[in-house]
Amino acid sequence: MDVISVIRTKRDRGELSPEQIDWVIDAYTRGVVADEQMSALAMAILLNGMNRAEIARWTAAMIASGERMDFSSLSRPTADKHSTGGVGDKITLPLAPLVAACGAAVPQLSGRGLGHTGGTLDKLESIPGWRALLSNEEMLNVLDTTGAVICAAGDGLAPADKKLYALRDVTGTVEAIPLIASSIMSKKIAEGTGSLVLDVKVGSGAFMKNIEDARELARTMVGLGTDSGVKTVALLTDMSTPLGLTAGNALEVRESVEVLAGGGPADVVELTIALAREMLDAAGVKDADPAKALADGSAMDVWRRMIAAQGGDPDAKLPVAREQHVVTASASGVLTRLDAYGVGVAAWRLGAGRARKEDPVQAGAGIELHAKPGDSVVAGQPLMTLHTDTPEKFEYALASLEGVYDVAAAGTDFTAAPIVLDRIA
Ligand code: URA
Repeated sequence: MDVISVIRTKRDRGELSPEQIDWVIDAYTRGVVADEQMSALAMAILLNGMNRAEIARWTAAMIASGERMDFSSLSRPTADKHSTGGVGDKITLPLAPLVAACGAAVPQLSGRGLGHTGGTLDKLESIPGWRALLSNEEMLNVLDTTGAVICAAGDGLAPADKKLYALRDVTGTVEAIPLIASSIMSKKIAEGTGSLVLDVKVGSGAFMKNIEDARELARTMVGLGTDSGVKTVALLTDMSTPLGLTAGNALEVRESVEVLAGGGPADVVELTIALAREMLDAAGVKDADPAKALADGSAMDVWRRMIAAQGGDPDAKLPVAREQHVVTASASGVLTRLDAYGVGVAAWRLGAGRARKEDPVQAGAGIELHAKPGDSVVAGQPLMTLHTDTPEKFEYALASLEGVYDVAAAGTDFTAAPIVLDRIA
């Protein structure tokens, strides 16, 4: 087998054979195929696509590049959730303990933020003492004793994807649907969950800007999961405006705790409950009521145990940024648009996110929103509060907030987009 013939096959719109796929993934992981050769192949895939059989084989080869985890010793069925990423998307934080409180086990391998979307591990690391890095044994132990664990994926899980994702990031090849689907699903299948709910975000703050691309990505991932024996369902959800009222690490933890205490913004509560119902249904847990588990404190009990089991202090005061800057409404009327992408970039520029993998993040940095689309606003009232430890960042963050919102005359009819746009099973 030689790599140039594999690249030429895809360059010329051919179908890669199973042998070509197995070989190229293995050879790339071992360093026999060079980065520049894999980038040429990734670009050929981005331009010419892959069919269902090719995507399935590509995913299987990435799974085979590393270890597979096994949760069969647990007494409960497992359910996991994966979001394609958005602004203010803190849903994993209340969702994992909620689903555990309702009877499923939730092994949640999560990532860090890169660019304008936040990462679950960065958010949880704002809790003093909390540890993202667990051994496989510790992970199983936390899962067994509390019902939920949120931690970093170990280096042994789909190493081919780790290498390929880093390469795609710097070669303009992230956006290929076959590569996104196989990247996400290889990690989820290798993780060993019995069922999986995908939250595929659509809108300005998401990877997928339009619903047709999001449907194609969702169908591809649901097909891959189902073919591998993982019960997989996808919800397509709105990411045209930030979720909830906060974007930033400690700010989002605070809001998640409000949801677990039975309060919190309506959109965060609605999506958390919708995803919990799907996860419990996919895991085969009957007669559970996630809304009740939020209201009666049982989800909060699991959260406290889960945070403590990973070294965190659930009662510790969360970090607060040293400096604040308030942005006020420029006109009176109805807020009809608040753009997720602009708010996400501003939160990132304030220090909540990172530009390179190795950059640190500020726990207290981010944005608090004081109004959402559909709310009435009065000229001069606070619309957002910007938080950072480094005030020289305000100017740069404010530049990305130029034109992010519209205010229409009072009385204008406005209906917010529904949170859940479609369901694919
Ligand atoms: N998330 C992943 O894990 N992989 C992708 O390719 C895109 C998003």
